[in-house]
Amino acid sequence: MTYAAVYNSWKSDPEAFWMKAAEGISWYKPPSKALFDEKAPVYEWFADAQVNTCYNAVDRHVEAGHGARTAIIYDSPVTNTKHKISYAELQTRVASLAGALRAKGVEKGDRVLIYMPMVPEAIEAMLACGRLGAIHSVVFGGFAANELAVRIDDAKPKAIIAASCGIEPNRVIHYKPLLDEAIELAAHKPDFCVIFQREQEVAQLIEGRDYSWHGFQYGVEPAECVPVAGNHPSYILYTSGTTGQPKGVIRHTAGQLVALDWTMKAIYDIDAGDVFWAASDVGWVVGHSYIAYGQLIHGATTIVFEGKPVGTPDAGTFWRIISEYGVKALFTAPTAFRAIKREDPNGELLKKYDLSKFETLFLAGERADPDTITWAQDQLGVPVIDHWWQTETGWAIAANPMGIEPLPVKLGSPSVAMPGYDVQILDESGNEMPAGEMGAIAIKLPLPPGTLPTLWNAEERFVSAYLETFPGYYETGDAGYKDEDGYLYIMARTDDVINVAGHRLSTGAMEEVLASHPDVAECAVIGVADKLKGQLPLGFLCLNAGCERGHEDIVKDVVKLVREKIGPVAAFKLAVVVDRLPKTRSGKILRATMVKIANGQVFKVPATIDDPAILDEITDALGSLGYPEQS
Ligand code: COA
Ligand code: AMP
Repeated sequence: MTYAAVYNSWKSDPEAFWMKAAEGISWYKPPSKALFDEKAPVYEWFADAQVNTCYNAVDRHVEAGHGARTAIIYDSPVTNTKHKISYAELQTRVASLAGALRAKGVEKGDRVLIYMPMVPEAIEAMLACGRLGAIHSVVFGGFAANELAVRIDDAKPKAIIAASCGIEPNRVIHYKPLLDEAIELAAHKPDFCVIFQREQEVAQLIEGRDYSWHGFQYGVEPAECVPVAGNHPSYILYTSGTTGQPKGVIRHTAGQLVALDWTMKAIYDIDAGDVFWAASDVGWVVGHSYIAYGQLIHGATTIVFEGKPVGTPDAGTFWRIISEYGVKALFTAPTAFRAIKREDPNGELLKKYDLSKFETLFLAGERADPDTITWAQDQLGVPVIDHWWQTETGWAIAANPMGIEPLPVKLGSPSVAMPGYDVQILDESGNEMPAGEMGAIAIKLPLPPGTLPTLWNAEERFVSAYLETFPGYYETGDAGYKDEDGYLYIMARTDDVINVAGHRLSTGAMEEVLASHPDVAECAVIGVADKLKGQLPLGFLCLNAGCERGHEDIVKDVVKLVREKIGPVAAFKLAVVVDRLPKTRSGKILRATMVKIANGQVFKVPATIDDPAILDEITDALGSLGYPEQS
């Protein structure tokens, strides 16, 4: 079938389309129907089914005789470790961990926070939660204790599973002190913590609260899979919004299973037994969908890679992994390829490896610039597929469906809408824009299975953040256009979200941190274009009258403060003191204009500007930091 035929079959009968896709999942009780719209605009999928995530990701493959197949490959250049875990081993390990969690009181519906680096135990922890029907919330290791505390207070976990440390190429990340500090800061306290002690660092355990991963599992009864309702949350994943309070995106169990299973073949052309590697982190949505879950649900092999595209030890690491494990498809962020290209522009390291099994490179997480795509195509000689999605959707909104019909690639476009998504470009009044014209990108409700039904404990925020601007639509927060062939082009965010090295960050959250500095009267943070990371945050500070401290000291303070409060992942290293910020007459800071000046783009002085002379001051301040960059 062609892409058009598949898309139209969904559009003409979504119910039949998703019930057919649901046949890929093993149910205790199959769903009586796909869509449950009684609580619209909150939609649910397969709500009356009974199912278990871990059973579908692990046990059913063992029962079908595939226990010896490799489920997880762990490759860690930062610790010089490699090993493989079969489906049968995974079942034993996860059942034992789930049994130990249950023995300590974790039950269906309890939340468990997971704070771990890229080790297979992170996936085992996620699966153990799924086995019990507990709801996990994984927190990325690059966030500071304060961010962890915010998530602890929102999710109110009964237990926290953490590792003693993570390894960055330039340092060991001491997870345990960060965890202790976060628990200290949070109002909610977990009943207990489980610490996976790594060879690189043995953490101090707090008597009566902390248990060692290994000791805690000793002598417990392994747990069986607990059936849960189709609309039972599988996980909460926090993502950046416009403020310092992150949004707790929920994923329902059945929708996630059906959607991810469907995407494995349709989008990624992966069959059971194939090796599909997503070089991301379990702390992000890509890591949830395509390191932890998609491959395992589909009976394929996933790779847990603890390293970086460059420097661990060199820019040939990705090629080594692809050749060593016969990777069929790789999924990563364009930043990773920009980093590799910068170190090895002529692809010398590539020549050392046999990439004959490699078929497709998938990119997402940020805009894939045509230069990077062309370079990757030339070096690898395989299709390079950009696709577009968000934490909220959990899987691709737009892609080139390699397992249905590979469509011509258009540089700069993540291709076309996937079945389930009716994507429209709207003007401010909600009218559809003609082809080629920019507007807000919205998706007609309901969103498909596997996307967010709502936010954790924040239904009003869900409605106001996503559904109010365009009634009947989900507002993606992205702006762009569609061409005559229905190809989408994702050009910018319409909110305060920026994308740094494929990591989604909130400039609003950074502004809250800057504003907390005693000498800062007012501030603004913008995202400026960066050749490696796509965007970098840059702060403007207006100081309190009479402040006598040196500007350099205050800049150093705020850089440190953002690292302490949000974390190193914010990559906030640029700030400058200015007298005033450019504003409209009604007091709105003209951030978009500042971005254009920083990027050296042509801009019109907004008609509503209060004092145009301030733009010259901003230009000078940016100049002092080397912006716009000379190419
Ligand atoms: N735990 C703790 N700290 C982390 C971390 C983690 N899991 N991940 C990143 N950090 C730290 C880094 O060490 C760095 O700290 P520093 O300021 O002391 O150098 C900081 O956070 C910023 O990290 P990053 O923006 O990733 O920059 P980098 O210079 O370390 O690496 C790349 C640059 C391009 C190699 C890296 O960003 C990369 O591999 N990107 C690929 C994109 C990707 O995986 N995106 C995920 C979504 S698909
Ligand atoms: P996250 O929730 O971290 O996955 O970030 C989602 C956001 O990243 C999207 O809303 C886009 O702004 C951006 N993004 C993701 N994939 C792409 C892509 N292929 N092209 C352009 N932007 C993208």
